[in-house]
Amino acid sequence: MPRKNLRDQVAVVTGAASGIGRALALGLAEEGCRLALVDVDAEGLASIAETLRAKKTEVLTQVADVSNADQVFEMAQRVLDHHGEADLVINNAGVVHFGTIAETDLATYEWLLGINLWGVIHGTKAFLPHFLEKGRGHVVNISSLAGLLTVPYGSAYATSKFGVRAFTETLYQEVSGRGVDVTCVHPSVVSTNIARAARIGDDLPIDRAQLIETADRQTFTTAEKAAAKIIRAIRRRQLRLVIGPDARLMVLLQRLLPIQSIRLAARFVFPIEKESD
Ligand SMILES: NC(=O)c1ccc[n+]([C@@H]2O[C@H](COP(=O)([O-])OP(=O)(O)OC[C@H]3O[C@@H](n4cnc5c(N)ncnc54)[C@H](O)[C@@H]3O)[C@@H](O)[C@H]2O)c1
Repeated sequence: MPRKNLRDQVAVVTGAASGIGRALALGLAEEGCRLALVDVDAEGLASIAETLRAKKTEVLTQVADVSNADQVFEMAQRVLDHHGEADLVINNAGVVHFGTIAETDLATYEWLLGINLWGVIHGTKAFLPHFLEKGRGHVVNISSLAGLLTVPYGSAYATSKFGVRAFTETLYQEVSGRGVDVTCVHPSVVSTNIARAARIGDDLPIDRAQLIETADRQTFTTAEKAAAKIIRAIRRRQLRLVIGPDARLMVLLQRLLPIQSIRLAARFVFPIEKESD
């Protein structure tokens, strides 16, 4: 398969007001894409759109909550009406929560799964019929290293990101050969606003400042570098992209020691204090 040329392609990016989504918008503009940027943050969207228009990139913005199916399907229709077509959707919008299963209420699971998992399902379902009809398109779903392995306090997030991976890999099995490319992205910690915007349970042994400090310490990758790798994977029509040397190491460890790696990962982020400790 030849590499993809993204010039003049219509790319839709959710969660484009910040972090990886913002960097993807800037990177795709450099590739010559026409853009449709989606976020709940109207101010952040206006700011990135202004930057892009100053570089003469054609950009449509849409405030929409990806957890709301109606808003996502309306957004997709607006993109098709405005640009006449779509070629690439990157379901990137996401949030994170930290807290134990015992102490996390159901509303928190519903909130997080609504954005991280249903958001991806909505974004995929909103554009897939168009891609299949024209026999060309690309769905990129942003999972996480947490879509490959679990850590304590991260059940809602890992459940959403394992779900994104299952959904995306199934999509690949169903549509490859019909002109639709599929990519699932698994970054480790990337320096963005996600930890600052995190919901934190009272039972997390560290406070927000320590969480941000931990995330900063564990970061090997900037949003710009992550976006460049994602764009390269899109051009290569790559199914799986793992970003970060720590993520690649954990994946290798998991392959070699499938059960022990679950115990090891438990020490990776926030060690759970055992009563005997
Ligand atoms: N930063 C990391 O360490 C990391 C690691 C692995 C995976 N990821 C994933 O990368 C993606 C991007 O995260 P980021 O790190 O750039 O975070 P970020 O907080 O910098 O950006 C996330 C964006 O999503 C938007 N958003 C949140 N809820 C939304 C909703 N309901 N509808 C529409 N937009 C919404 C936010 O307003 C924000 O602009 C997420 O899916 C995240 O889970 C991030």
